[in-house]
Amino acid sequence: MDDLTAVPEPGAVTVIVPSFNESGNVRELLHRITESVPSRVPCEVIFVDDSTDDTPDVVAKAAQDCPFPVSVIHREVPVGGLGGAVVEGIKAAASEWIVVMDADLQHPPSLVPELIAAGESTGADLVVASRYAKGGSRAGLAGGYRVAVSRASTWLTKALFPRALRGISDPMSGFFALRRSLVVAEGMAQELRPLGYKILMELAVRCEPQKVAEVPFTFQDRFAGESKSTAREGLRFLRHLVELRTARPLWRMLAFGLIGLTGFAPNLLALYGLTAAGMHYLPAEIVANQFGVAWNFLLIEVLLFRTRRHGRTASRLARFALLANADLVLRIPLIALLVGTWEMDVLPATTVALLLTFVLRFAGTEALVYTRKRTGYTRKRTNRAARQGEQ
Ligand code: GDD
Ligand code: MN
Repeated sequence: MDDLTAVPEPGAVTVIVPSFNESGNVRELLHRITESVPSRVPCEVIFVDDSTDDTPDVVAKAAQDCPFPVSVIHREVPVGGLGGAVVEGIKAAASEWIVVMDADLQHPPSLVPELIAAGESTGADLVVASRYAKGGSRAGLAGGYRVAVSRASTWLTKALFPRALRGISDPMSGFFALRRSLVVAEGMAQELRPLGYKILMELAVRCEPQKVAEVPFTFQDRFAGESKSTAREGLRFLRHLVELRTARPLWRMLAFGLIGLTGFAPNLLALYGLTAAGMHYLPAEIVANQFGVAWNFLLIEVLLFRTRRHGRTASRLARFALLANADLVLRIPLIALLVGTWEMDVLPATTVALLLTFVLRFAGTEALVYTRKRTGYTRKRTNRAARQGEQ
């Protein structure tokens, strides 16, 4: 008895497997998890499945040979893709440890106990299985193109989040273990807004784990089927990066400004076209400005305020255009005021006016166009209401 209590029991683990048409892989995966996880470790496997093939049925059949519980959460609407599926699984898990791994056996199941052991011995909240740590390799990453893309996105991500990703050599990895407490704290799971493949990046940036550990691994070849990653995933990844980086208002304002700068291109192009077609330059200025406004609207809708688009698009566009044009109208009297009353020189006055109207426009866009829905509060309230309803 004594030596049993001397060795701390490893915590229970839930293995979350996002799956999308992986019927050729799931049986083998369950088989290898069974072989890898010692029977004394309380283990459970949850598939979060968006398949259009018979993957759920194959899982259900294969589960009969497993010594641990296996369940499938099948989603009719695949919100957030791979990342959304993982968050769904995290919300369903109840164990101390959660391991996320792909269904296609590119992530060796034999590493599951090792990831948890590394977490337990170092006290880390997050343990990343890394292809880029010493001893790891990306052998199964098919083709020079995928390798280059993976390298470039790793570099970009680390450059944008040097602090949050310190100690993580492979933020693109889809194989990792985390303590449930990391995501349960302060309703963290509600804060997660994954978009596509890079769920580890989302977790590391939003949950700010105190301590991170890494275990090197060799990225294997796919067992069966083919990768679901597409060029569209690449675009989603870039949007995801922007979204994470602009979670703070100052960064959001910076991005807003950068997008505004790109709006000069369609503006000038339209101005050129309209005047070339014979329009007087003054009305042309006004019309051309609307091209810039439309361009900016498109970009901020997709890049900056994806999760804050409430109500009708036409109504948002109208409010946004109103603010953008008010900005023009406001600037001239403001410059007149600065120069006339405060006796500023024209250039500094114009600079001050530009900056001021920019900040005002940003604040106005935040407050009047992309109003925040207080989901956190509503959720709490509905929960309490639900509980009272039960009693
Ligand atoms: N539920 C669900 N919904 N699962 C999905 C979806 C989806 O929309 N898309 C993909 N999956 C599942 C797949 O079935 C597989 O189990 C896992 O997510 C990974 O998908 P793959 O298509 O095999 O991705 P990959 O091999 O190209 O990329 C993997 O390795 C990358 C490292 O290079 C992933 O783990 C990436 O996250 C990782 O960055
Ligand atoms: Mn894969």
